[in-house]
Amino acid sequence: MSKRGLFITVEGGEGVGKSTNIAVVESWLQEQGIAYRRTREPGGTPLAEEIRQLLLAPRDEAMAPMAELLLVFAARAQHIAAVIEPALAAGQWVICDRFTDATYAYQGGGRELPQAWIARLEDLVQRSLHPDLTLLLDAPLEVGLSRAGERGELDRFEQEQRVFFERVRNCYLERAAAEPDRFRLVDTNRPLELIADDIRALLSAARTGQ
Ligand code: TMP
Repeated sequence: MSKRGLFITVEGGEGVGKSTNIAVVESWLQEQGIAYRRTREPGGTPLAEEIRQLLLAPRDEAMAPMAELLLVFAARAQHIAAVIEPALAAGQWVICDRFTDATYAYQGGGRELPQAWIARLEDLVQRSLHPDLTLLLDAPLEVGLSRAGERGELDRFEQEQRVFFERVRNCYLERAAAEPDRFRLVDTNRPLELIADDIRALLSAARTGQ
């Protein structure tokens, strides 16, 4: 039986450089010859990607925060069952662009839903599944929002106000401080090569500790 793969999540607010830095993670995995599956949330399976569309599409009807929370976890339940668990069990590493920390940050921090409700759903949907390593990409709000604003059409989250994103960032930073063994904070307000060096070092350390 192959050794279970590592579950790595990449988190951060809008415009912090997730795509660029996930590409760094992927090229490191390829250089090391590690079998992996790159995926994202909300989404990662055809059904979960449909739920993503529901979550991101701007609409006239305001979405109740609880409806938003349940859609996020509905997509996650499907994603875990169809993609994440089978890949980890087969020995692949899973690199996931956002996971439940985003729910704490956006639905908990941003929408101000009680963290305890999220924790209940997390237990129900994930049971013992938790990331082994979470890279929290962080940059000052002005930097992230101006990068995100250059991308054209804004989705339903990107249309939120600055205070929403302040709450999101604060929640991420609080979670990272509370779980220092799992989180690694990566300052992305630096030259790309320095960030990439840090990310490669963090991945090597995770592999050694596997
Ligand atoms: P992305 O465009 O960075 O992939 O993320 C899509 C949006 O979904 C982003 O604005 C954050 C939001 N989101 C939540 O609100 N809750 C969640 O649990 C996840 C995974 C994402």
